[in-house]
Amino acid sequence: MTDAFDLLLWAVLPYLTLVVLVGGLVWRYRHDRFGWTTRSSQLHESRLLRIGSPLFHFGLLFVIGGHVAGLLVPASVTRWLGVHDEMYHLVSFTAGGLAGAGTVVGLGVLLYRRWRTPAVRRATSGDDRLMYPLLAATVLLGMTATVLTRSIDYDYRATVSPWFRSILLLDPDPSLMSAVPLPYRLHALFAMALFALWPFSRLVHAFSAPVHYLIRPYIVYRTRDHRLASRRARPGWDDT
Ligand code: HEM
Repeated sequence: MTDAFDLLLWAVLPYLTLVVLVGGLVWRYRHDRFGWTTRSSQLHESRLLRIGSPLFHFGLLFVIGGHVAGLLVPASVTRWLGVHDEMYHLVSFTAGGLAGAGTVVGLGVLLYRRWRTPAVRRATSGDDRLMYPLLAATVLLGMTATVLTRSIDYDYRATVSPWFRSILLLDPDPSLMSAVPLPYRLHALFAMALFALWPFSRLVHAFSAPVHYLIRPYIVYRTRDHRLASRRARPGWDDT
């Protein structure tokens, strides 16, 4: 039996989040296309950024891969492929744990840099002050869930994963989430809050991977060597 609160959290909230996420992205693209940026602070500080940024981004890339496998692929499919549950959880704990640890350490370095570098701190906006704590809480709760999966032998693929798929299939089953341990539920709730904030924060840059670079036309560069050019090169400042 699902109570009204569970219904609200696990059947209504996910769709509200999706509406805000998709609607917000469309709105931002139409009204703030030139503000669609990571608001890079590399010019202010690059030493810590060079360590924190790749650790965080590559860690997160593997975490996303783990989420696709763990949430979207049913346990029956991995069993059919010959991967026993014990083996699945061992690999998921090792790979997910390493990727999660990279993400946590990378984010830690980025937050330390933002806090300790005066110019970067000054460049921190109001939405950053909401986004970074939400991101940190989501990632830390995810790590807690991973450790919990291992230590209490909890199988989230029998509850959280089918619930997640039920949302995508437009047939929500909130009862699957009602008895799930708290860290998993908090992780999913913080993730939803993060998705709702996404379009209004610097996180929009995640949707701007420069994929068109692979197929854009060549850029033609011409030489400035005056012996090869059709006219003499002018001195740098003279544009007459
Ligand atoms: C509603 C969306 C989400 C659901 C249902 C979900 C679910 C889960 C589950 C069940 C785990 C435990 C995996 C295991 O024990 O092996 C986990 C771990 C984790 N999650 Fe999420 N998650 C969501 C969104 C996110 C988001 C948006 C982020 C980061 C921005 C994130 C970051 C992590 C991290 C860092 C871990 C620990 C490392 C790992 O196991 O990959 N999750 N998540």
